[in-house]
Amino acid sequence: MPDQDKPAEGAAKAAAQRAAEAAKAAEAASAAGAVEGAEPLHAAAGTSTGPGASAAEIEYAAALLDAGELVAFPTETVYGLGGDAQSPDAVARIYAAKGRPANHPVIVHLAPHGDPGYWVEHLPPEALRLIDAFWPGPLTLILKRAARIPAAVSGGQDSVGLRCPSHPVAQALLEAFSALRGGHGGVAAPSANRFGHVSPTTAQHVRDEFGGSIHVLDGGSSDVGIESTILDLSRGFPALLRPGRVTPQDIAEVLGEAPRLPDGSDATAPRASGTLKAHYAPRTPLALLPFEALEPMLAAREANERVALVARVSRAGRWADADGVHFIAAPEDPHVYARELYGLLRALDRANVTRILIEKLPDTIEWIAVNDRLGRAAAAFEAQG
Ligand code: TXA
Ligand code: MG
Repeated sequence: MPDQDKPAEGAAKAAAQRAAEAAKAAEAASAAGAVEGAEPLHAAAGTSTGPGASAAEIEYAAALLDAGELVAFPTETVYGLGGDAQSPDAVARIYAAKGRPANHPVIVHLAPHGDPGYWVEHLPPEALRLIDAFWPGPLTLILKRAARIPAAVSGGQDSVGLRCPSHPVAQALLEAFSALRGGHGGVAAPSANRFGHVSPTTAQHVRDEFGGSIHVLDGGSSDVGIESTILDLSRGFPALLRPGRVTPQDIAEVLGEAPRLPDGSDATAPRASGTLKAHYAPRTPLALLPFEALEPMLAAREANERVALVARVSRAGRWADADGVHFIAAPEDPHVYARELYGLLRALDRANVTRILIEKLPDTIEWIAVNDRLGRAAAAFEAQG
């Protein structure tokens, strides 16, 4: 029933009704085991080990977003905690759930058929080339925000971060929500963890963070495992704000120019430390050092102490089976390491060890993203002294 007098209220009512209908459909679907004619949206091979999400579940989650609620959803990088990007209330709800300061910008996730131009003042040719090369995928672009987009989504800054994820469950959710908004819906989503903690790469990780208070779509394990590469194009030159699976060289190949690091240096050169900030931390104290520096710490451990050691097998030598050492063989491949990293840090928090000692990886471009996350996790404890 249309409600001409109070369009906002009418829209809210309609959204609530859609949510209720979708909930009923989802319930019926799970009772029947499937929705007729609706195949579960399994992630592409290698992306998901989980159950996927049925069309009814997607519809229900999109209706929740439409009603201003939050939904956690899988992406190929990490799970996101999503809310309507154009609703300052929904964005405020995200900050509250995470315990995150409200001046931190969040990334807006767009459907594959979404229009990035709607969200920005102007789409420069470099952005178009990068979108062409890397979307859908783990690259976030920071651009000047369009006046129509609420400042809340970027913590008051004049820019906006945009990304189109490749995970099929994320894409289905984004398409469904966008359709409810005439093709212009976007979902603001930081990683679905409490502020400063390790990002989630499975639906269970999200439940571990928030208990039952957040609706979670399960899309299996995230394939990339660490957050997207963030490239700032809003300053007149490309600047790498966060390394990820899309490397500085990948970007340089498309732009014909290497992105800069926040300190002004070339991002394809070996990375200077010191720009690291505490983040992504487990609860157990963690030290990140070259293996030679870890050995004296292992040798000096207390007799009754149990420490975790994460190092490449090729380095660990006799420490791999020393008493009181909980040894984890670190993956030798950077992509595999990234995929397993956050799950490993969560597991080590439950491993009943006093300290986590991690071998620092080589200071080469292929390890830049893993070293970045490990460095931030370690910095959380260096900061405490
Ligand atoms: O892989 C990812 O990017 C995941 C998944 C869920 O997509 N999301 C994610 O979001 O990592 P979050 O909130 O944990 O990281 C967002 C970061 C901010 O802390 C900030 O560094 C940067 O993205 N960012 C977002 N919008 C920005 C803006 N307008 N200006 C500058 N930095 C921005
Ligand atoms: Mg995060």
